[in-house]
This record gives sequence, C-alpha cells and structure tokens, in this order.
Amino acid sequence: MTTAVCPGSFDPVTVGHLDIVTRAANIFDRVIILVLTNPAKQPVFSEQKRVELLKRVTTQFGNVEIDTYNGLLADYCKQKQATVIVKGLRAMSDFEYEFQQALTNKKLNPGTDTVFLTTSAENMYLSSSVIRNIASLGGDISDFVPGAIAADILNQFKQEREDQ
Ligand code: PNS
Repeated sequence: MTTAVCPGSFDPVTVGHLDIVTRAANIFDRVIILVLTNPAKQPVFSEQKRVELLKRVTTQFGNVEIDTYNGLLADYCKQKQATVIVKGLRAMSDFEYEFQQALTNKKLNPGTDTVFLTTSAENMYLSSSVIRNIASLGGDISDFVPGAIAADILNQFKQEREDQ
C-alpha cells in the first residue's frame, strides 16, 4: 500500500489544492493532507480552522485523511511510512523553490520521493494569498474555493474588518 502526503499551509484550501488532492487520491492508496507550518508565512486562519475547512471539502474521498504536524515533513513521512510527497506545480516560478524542497526532503529522508503534478490550466494563477487578498476586500471568491467553504472564509474577513 502506497501512502502519499500532500503537504502545505492551506491558508485556506483552494480549488487548486482540491484538484491536486483529487488526482493524488486516484493514483495512491492512501493520501494524507498534512497541514504544516511554513516558517516564511504568518497564517491568517488558525490551524484548527484550516483543518476544519479541509475536512468539509474532502468528505467525498474514502482514502484521504487530514493531519497536522509541528516538525519536519521528512520526519513525518518516516513516522507514517509515506513513500511519496505530492506537490502541485503551477509555473516555472514555483520550480526553483519546489526543487530545493524536494532535494532537501530526499536528503533528510531517502525513503520518500517527491512527485510533482502539473496544476490544471484553469488553476495556473491561483494561490491562497490571492484568495486572501480578494476576500479581505470583500470580493467574490466563489470561483476560487470549494463552494461549501466560501461563505465561511468571507465571514472571517468580514468579522476582522468589523473588529478593526
Ligand atoms: O503551502 P506552502 O506554504 O507552500 O507549504 C510549504 C510547506 C509547509 C510544505 C513547507 O514549508 C514545509 O515542508 N514545512 C515543514 C518544515 C520542513 O519540513 N521544512 C524543510 C523542508 S525543505
């Protein structure tokens, strides 16, 4: 049985993430969506909220689970005997960073390989930060996040604007 890990910040999960998870779930026996800390980013949504949103949009998969970890991705993969890390690649601009991460993770845990799935063309431009930016200004994000969570995301930003 092959276990694959889809790691990321998921702040918040986008239709682009869900596309990659869907395709990974079709390829691998078991897929763990792993919510991690990216030291370069300060998340807007709490870890608990990001997990809740992910759970709500992945109920249709029988082989996908959500987990969190406060350590190295390479160590988590060892613990779970996950032999594959799945990453989505949008454009060449992603490549250098992802290549460095893949090589580092391979060095830290030679038993795990990184597999890149090219993003679907319609999601090329999409990122959580673009969605956060639109939502923070009260814009329409319905094309960018799964329908079940769009209102929730907008409400969080609306609440923040009202609190200011
Ligand atoms: O969605 P993101 O923010 O691009 O995901 C980046 C993430 C969280 C996958 C990356 O920062 C990560 O793997 N963090 C965990 C810590 C770690 O293992 N660092 C070494 C990787 S080179």
